Amino acid sequence: MSDAKEHDRRHVWHPFTQMRAWDAGDPVVIVEGEGALLRDAEGRVYLDGNSSIWTNLHGHRRAELDDAIRAQLGRVAHTSFLGLTNDVAPEFARELLQAFTRSDEPEGWRVFFSDDGSTAVEAGVKMIHQARQQRGETERTVFFSLAAGYHGDTVGAMSVGHSAVFHGAYRGLMFPTREVMQPACYRCPHNRAQPERGVDARVSRKCAWECVGEVERALDAAGGTASAFVVEPRVQGAGSMSMHPHGWLARVAELCRARGVWLMLDEVMTGFGRTGAMFAAHHEDVVPDVVALGKGITGGYLPLAATIASAEIFAAFLGEFAEMKTFFHGHSYSGNQLGCAVARASLRLLHGGHSMEHVRGRAAVLEKLAQRFWRHPNVGDVRCEGMICAVELVEDFATRSRFPFAQRTGHRVCEAARAHGLLTRCVGDMLVLMPPYCVTDDQLAKAADALWRALGEILPL
Ligand SMILES: Cc1ncc(COP(=O)(O)O)c(C=O)c1O
Repeated sequence: MSDAKEHDRRHVWHPFTQMRAWDAGDPVVIVEGEGALLRDAEGRVYLDGNSSIWTNLHGHRRAELDDAIRAQLGRVAHTSFLGLTNDVAPEFARELLQAFTRSDEPEGWRVFFSDDGSTAVEAGVKMIHQARQQRGETERTVFFSLAAGYHGDTVGAMSVGHSAVFHGAYRGLMFPTREVMQPACYRCPHNRAQPERGVDARVSRKCAWECVGEVERALDAAGGTASAFVVEPRVQGAGSMSMHPHGWLARVAELCRARGVWLMLDEVMTGFGRTGAMFAAHHEDVVPDVVALGKGITGGYLPLAATIASAEIFAAFLGEFAEMKTFFHGHSYSGNQLGCAVARASLRLLHGGHSMEHVRGRAAVLEKLAQRFWRHPNVGDVRCEGMICAVELVEDFATRSRFPFAQRTGHRVCEAARAHGLLTRCVGDMLVLMPPYCVTDDQLAKAADALWRALGEILPL
């Protein structure tokens, strides 16, 4: 056994991993990457089919990103953002706000830096809660969020999430929040869409937006206690890989606005072009009050995250020192120069070679290739939104019943795909293809083929 494998087996604890099985297994040891490809210690080459857990945008060893880090390393890697600033993070904050607000002069908004998606969400939740108190809106304490929502693993982020698998063990630590029906057509209890094979549920839907009605009822029931609604816009990721009917977000944003409820968008997964727009909110011209960003913010190179706050929320924190209105939250690596330098370079690529037009072009190829999966009897739904594609496996197509949890059907398909040169990770029994934006037509075709063959091996036709 190689040193890396042996030391891993003896000394490391992996995230979201049953370590008994892991320690008995034979892990893939990644040693190199280039573009959309990764190479392991045995020389096998794989397509990075989930963009290294949804972080990588432009591929590995992208010259512009490597150079940005090298140039910053030649100056300084990290200095504290407490009581100091630096010459990189503020520039990035401005460029980020320009991209987010689609305005050259994004006045009023502020960027709060942290390290990961969870910390971006955590900061947002605390910011909202404290702002309500400091505005004298002390009754407004209730957070709303979607069923099957996933916002990260810190306690505040878990509290606004609703996943029995991820959060079940920690219920006793979490604060109560109101769970609202998710707008997921395929598993909608009112299901009027009845998607047929090959027909996108969102297109054939003939419903009365019951999912919007449910949000309205929940907000009205809470009345003046409603503080904020936390949403993964357009695509819910780790909790269910569900894709929302277009128009839901704008309708819900309007409901929130009309009731003085703040809208917090978790764009940790959807941000930076993943859905085919720079931010998912842009598809529906929604202007939220708070946005959490992470993952792709550095193009997938370094841990950096940002929480964007509206002028209204930021203003609630201004006061005299003794008034204790300070946002009492921070992280050692806030505003990290290396992270911000590569994030700036990544943004430049998103405005240049990997423009939204390019991403949408790649997405169209991915969506076309994904249609093949409808042919398998255990595929209940095929959903695509930008560079995200999910194939939902079911035990029975007609009833949409799921495979037993313990069978780990999706996991076994992804394991089998490795032998065909594809690395990806499922969400339950949802197979996910979410490659970097640099992926070629040929690589996309091979990835779809690898997943199809793996599916056939685990669930023979
Ligand atoms: C929508 C969303 N929010 C938050 C997070 C948490 O991000 P991180 O794993 O960087 O803490 C994730 C991670 O998958 C996510 O998909």
